Amino acid sequence: MKEDKQSRREFVKQSSLLAGGLVAAPFLSHASGYFNSVDDTIKIALVGCGGRGTGAAMQAMLTKQNVKLVAMADAFRDRLDSAYAALTDENSEEGNVKAKVAVPEANKFVGFDAYQKAIALADVVILTTPPGFRPIHFEEAIRQGKHVFMEKPVATDPAGIQRVLRAAEEAKKKKLNVVVGLQRHYQNSYRELLKRVKDGMIGEITSGQVWWNNDGVWVNMRKPGQTEMEYQMRNWYYFNWLCGDHINEQHIHNIDVMNWFKGDYPVKAFGLGGRQVRTGKEYGEIYDHHYVEYHYADGTILNSQCRHIKGTYAIVDEMLVGTKGVVKCGAAEITSKGKALYKYDRKNENNPYQTEHDELFAAIAKGEYKFADAENGAKSTLTAIMGRMATYSGQVIEWDKTLNSGLSIMPTTFAWDADMPVKPDANGFYPIATPGVTRYFS
Ligand SMILES: NC(=O)c1ccc[n+]([C@@H]2O[C@H](COP(=O)([O-])OP(=O)(O)OC[C@H]3O[C@@H](n4cnc5c(N)ncnc54)[C@H](O)[C@@H]3O)[C@@H](O)[C@H]2O)c1
Repeated sequence: MKEDKQSRREFVKQSSLLAGGLVAAPFLSHASGYFNSVDDTIKIALVGCGGRGTGAAMQAMLTKQNVKLVAMADAFRDRLDSAYAALTDENSEEGNVKAKVAVPEANKFVGFDAYQKAIALADVVILTTPPGFRPIHFEEAIRQGKHVFMEKPVATDPAGIQRVLRAAEEAKKKKLNVVVGLQRHYQNSYRELLKRVKDGMIGEITSGQVWWNNDGVWVNMRKPGQTEMEYQMRNWYYFNWLCGDHINEQHIHNIDVMNWFKGDYPVKAFGLGGRQVRTGKEYGEIYDHHYVEYHYADGTILNSQCRHIKGTYAIVDEMLVGTKGVVKCGAAEITSKGKALYKYDRKNENNPYQTEHDELFAAIAKGEYKFADAENGAKSTLTAIMGRMATYSGQVIEWDKTLNSGLSIMPTTFAWDADMPVKPDANGFYPIATPGVTRYFS
């Protein structure tokens, strides 16, 4: 136990110091004076205090480890305050973690640079802003030598993917654990299905079908007095620099399952899509449906469909077809010509949102370097971004060309009065991509 605590303290602190370039030697003793207390608490900073950030911080504090939330950062004070209220609510349905929240007023940071200050105070950082900011925040967390839990998707454009991939390399060198919130990787049924696919139960995967079809999500209407930046940040789901369109924001979960089970990423994509129903100005610039055909190097094809249209058939699922059988992830079963080969027993199912934190914090506490999810997170995000570029342009979008394009859709400065990459017309409508007209590559 004592050894455990010792190694945890050293691992957490040394990762920080080494990563920050502060020490050259791999080990520090207490005599060095760095450890100024016997406190072995794992300190957490939350960056992005919305729905998921509140949930993830809660799950981090519900792990068995000795953790404390010590800093919070958000672009907006009201979001930070509501997350703080939820996390200190002793009657919360998820659990009472109040005693683990130690965020004095001085450690509550607001604005575009809030993340840097919060990250500096922690050993582990939870990154749960809209995905457009993820590359900037992840890069900084790794630069400062912190372990990371970050939500998917991890970027909205190819330039962001390149940043995440570079930071992922750094994280590996610095032995910083990184978990990405593609939580199916932490779900028992998926892990059991994957084991059987790896053991050859369905032969070679030759095609797949993945779906995220449902009604869609919230809308935050424009309020008087908001600058364009504030409006887009509040209504972030509908702006590509922040969200990446719903193919990136939500359907990534399903696309990623194919990449994960296949152990590969597609070489090209083409498809079709549009905004047939969600045409109001409050829906910014994103589409309401996409259908993308992804081609892998060995000829495998993934058919991906995602739709946000009320009153239509809803399905969120994945099906992988192999030479000897079919995996149906939602049903958690493997079949061959209609005959069951394997059925997962649902009573063993877990809450993957909790497990991803349990496993991450247990590894950190034990001083283990176990999780390097960022590279796959970036590559599955790129897969989704390619899908968007394919449907927006109507062209064939290739992996290498896209990754190496350095294409950025982010604002060049972050300020409430900044010049925005997309602007509304006089009636408040935004330019919408048009297949056959919109082009990314000449
Ligand atoms: N894995 C899952 O199943 C799952 C579920 C829900 C959300 N998510 C992901 O979590 C992320 C957040 O989604 P959400 O539903 O919590 O959104 P949200 O709008 O509730 O929260 C986002 C928060 O980030 C803040 N923010 C925006 N820009 C910021 C910046 N530059 N610095 C600091 N804070 C900033 C916002 O003010 C807001 O409070 C998304 O990437 C989403 O895909 C994942």
